[in-house]
Amino acid sequence: RPGGGTALRARLLWFDADPAEEGEARAVRYVADGIVVVENGVIREVGEAADILRRLLPDTPLVDHRPHLLMPGFIDPHLHMPQTQVIASYGAELMEWLAKYTFPEESRYGDPAVAEAASRFLLDELLANGTTTAGVYCTSHRESVDAFFADAGRRGMRMVAGKVMMDRNAPAALLDTAETGYQQSKELIERWHGKGRLDYAITPRFAPTSTEAQLEACEMLAGEYPELHIQTHLSENTAEIAFVRKAFAWSKDYTEVYERYGLVRPKAMFGHCIHLSARERGALAAGGATAVFCPTSNLFLGSGLFDLAGMREAGILAGIATDIGGGTSYSMLRTASEGYKVLALAGQRLPAFDAFHMLTAGNAAAMGLDNRIGRIAPGMEADFVVLDSHATAAMRRRMERVETLEEELFALIVLGDDRATVATYVEGRRAYDRALPARTLPP
Ligand code: GUN
Ligand code: ZN
Repeated sequence: RPGGGTALRARLLWFDADPAEEGEARAVRYVADGIVVVENGVIREVGEAADILRRLLPDTPLVDHRPHLLMPGFIDPHLHMPQTQVIASYGAELMEWLAKYTFPEESRYGDPAVAEAASRFLLDELLANGTTTAGVYCTSHRESVDAFFADAGRRGMRMVAGKVMMDRNAPAALLDTAETGYQQSKELIERWHGKGRLDYAITPRFAPTSTEAQLEACEMLAGEYPELHIQTHLSENTAEIAFVRKAFAWSKDYTEVYERYGLVRPKAMFGHCIHLSARERGALAAGGATAVFCPTSNLFLGSGLFDLAGMREAGILAGIATDIGGGTSYSMLRTASEGYKVLALAGQRLPAFDAFHMLTAGNAAAMGLDNRIGRIAPGMEADFVVLDSHATAAMRRRMERVETLEEELFALIVLGDDRATVATYVEGRRAYDRALPARTLPP
């Protein structure tokens, strides 16, 4: 009998496959009146409420979230912790934006108090938006990584993060060296990787800010830790690509720089991937690496339009992310909505089921975490978001004319944001509740 845990009742939605590949019938799981039973941070059982209620022990606490939707917590595979005060900085393309706003701001993060305050804000804000896992860039300072992991660990969140490695083309306050970048990364891996739900990502910022010696050090780390995530940026902006062509004259293209140093492999997440050649796509696919679509950032910085269909044709796993603070919203709903518009400009489509799949199981697969998060199934970790599709006047007005689940989900994406988050659960515990004055709850 499913007793002892906690039961959550709601309209349940998750994906057991990719609707873009296997069709909606096989992929979409929707239970109009369902219950998830959670115990010790993992899902013990999921099914029809009528069925589970019959067997539930009478003392099992039951939270009734009807008529809201409960889905796996959102996953944001690419964002920058030290950019919560860079977001919405005016008027620049990538290289100017980095030099003018981002590098000066990140220079403050050697101060643990600055890094702690930013981590706290960021994690609160992610939970308010229903995001329970992220791929996070800290700064080049060790202190920033310690602060972030300590806070995420206290909250029990599944987080992937790393110390940015950068040893050239930035202010001195941000530069490590090939040697210190390697040593400090290694210390941080030993301190944090695999501790609770925390995973380390080897994080060379991008080719323009690393020397060949530093990329060799990354290769050595990647070789020593073959299971680790890798995260970096690739082919975001034309000036950046020209910079790489000059700095690595031996390389036939941008992607080859990362290939040369053994960084194109499974669980390597490449942010942006906008201007790739067919050869580069083939190389990412062959390496089993992931391309991460960052629509609000790509529009805000004028970087270009991601080609999702092209990625799928090439056989590349694609994720979708906020890229805070180049990106302009913490909301994965807003991010999917902007993704829809970017794809529309290229004559491509993003159906609502595909979008919610990407925000959950799709991004879990893109991060190599699909064995733990992203679906509602026994044994999976119990991170959830509860969403109100009638959260605002504009949403309620639109919903009056909605007839199908798919129409409701699409309008929720296009009109929704953090106001639609009713509650967020981490390891089966409520970590955010919009009905409470404090909203974010201590672990
Ligand atoms: N490329 C290198 N660093 C960054 C960054 O912080 N943001 C974005 N969007 N692109 C980058
Ligand atoms: Zn980024």
